[in-house]
Amino acid sequence: MSCFEVLALGGDGIGPEVLASGIEVLNAAAKLAGIEVDIKHDLLHGACWDVHGTFCRDETVAAADHADAVLVGAIGGPKWDNIRVAGGAEMQDGLMRLRKELNTYAGLRPARFWPSLSDRTPFSLEHVQGSDILIVRETSGGVLFAEPRGQTMCNGKRFGFDTAAYDEDEIRRISIAGFEMARRRRKNLLSTDKANVMESFKLWREIVNEVALDYPDVNLSHMYADNLAYQLVMDPTRFDVVIACNLLGDILSDLTAVVSGGLGMLPSACLRGPPGGRVKGIYEPVHGSAPDITGLGIANPVGMILSVAMMFEHSFEHPEVAEKIESAVSSSLLDGFRTPDIGGKHSTKSVTESIVNNLVG
Ligand code: NAI
Ligand code: MG
Repeated sequence: MSCFEVLALGGDGIGPEVLASGIEVLNAAAKLAGIEVDIKHDLLHGACWDVHGTFCRDETVAAADHADAVLVGAIGGPKWDNIRVAGGAEMQDGLMRLRKELNTYAGLRPARFWPSLSDRTPFSLEHVQGSDILIVRETSGGVLFAEPRGQTMCNGKRFGFDTAAYDEDEIRRISIAGFEMARRRRKNLLSTDKANVMESFKLWREIVNEVALDYPDVNLSHMYADNLAYQLVMDPTRFDVVIACNLLGDILSDLTAVVSGGLGMLPSACLRGPPGGRVKGIYEPVHGSAPDITGLGIANPVGMILSVAMMFEHSFEHPEVAEKIESAVSSSLLDGFRTPDIGGKHSTKSVTESIVNNLVG
């Protein structure tokens, strides 16, 4: 029997609430598939700061590196948002440290239309039905990490600065991840940038075009990010795989949540290599710690549960289990098991129970 090690990090706010749902589904799905999972727990970000005075301990990075997969709830909150510690971007944010040090650069953020949630999108049914978009977001570099960055005084004024920068290897590897995913899907890859006005994006476009030579079967196009934001809303069904830098991918993936009916619906994976075989990854819902609903027991667990499905697909190499989880989610939504954010009255616990019952039933 294969045994996989998972490091579970609840984090902050609704993070631990949705993590509990994820673990319930993980255990049920593993049992179903005859897979053993050994789950270890640790603290991340604010929860870690309060106990250890750091957003992510070295021991946690080592445990994450050792595990086959890492499952994260969500992190952050007003209590910790303005704390600044010595070191780069990765020292200010527990999750960013994990993504950086584990080198999990390939962020997969799928957003699909759920027929049972058509009333939750701002679109008419004809406009949105069939939408199935995958944002492949670079997650361990770019303007969120690059140096120099900081705040200083300049000509007597307060001055804040960040650096948008990628080297060719970073762009090449995220491009490969995008082409590989396009190859597994509908073979359309769109690369988004601001190459009209920024040097780092001119290089981005150049490298994507070079990598495209190895993927003649994939149809590549480019679109400036501002236009893409518009087109994603105007015509969501025309998109398949979109590759984006860390910042644009972050923004655009929240935007695609509208086709799914809510931010709480979106899962994600940050993989250490291109998809294919068993790849180490960090799995987490796209949403944040939602301080406005923390502790109410109404957080939507679906983004987390679908992240567990992605773990089965990419880190355990059991895509058939991923499909079963997705179809259990679909059945629960059809049966009306929805949290308030997607128009229901059910609790996190009751939605989770329904999904587990559909999975094992
Ligand atoms: P957010 O994603 O936490 O919340 C945005 C809105 O969506 C809120 O109205 C919230 O109630 C709702 N929402 C999010 N997830 C939900 C769920 N599962 N079920 C029901 N409703 C849900 O974003 P916000 O408010 O900008 O950030 C809050 C904190 O989260 C900040 O400290 C931010 O830094 C952090 N954050 C963390 C992320 C992560 O852990 N990966 C990602 C984004 C933000
Ligand atoms: Mg985000």
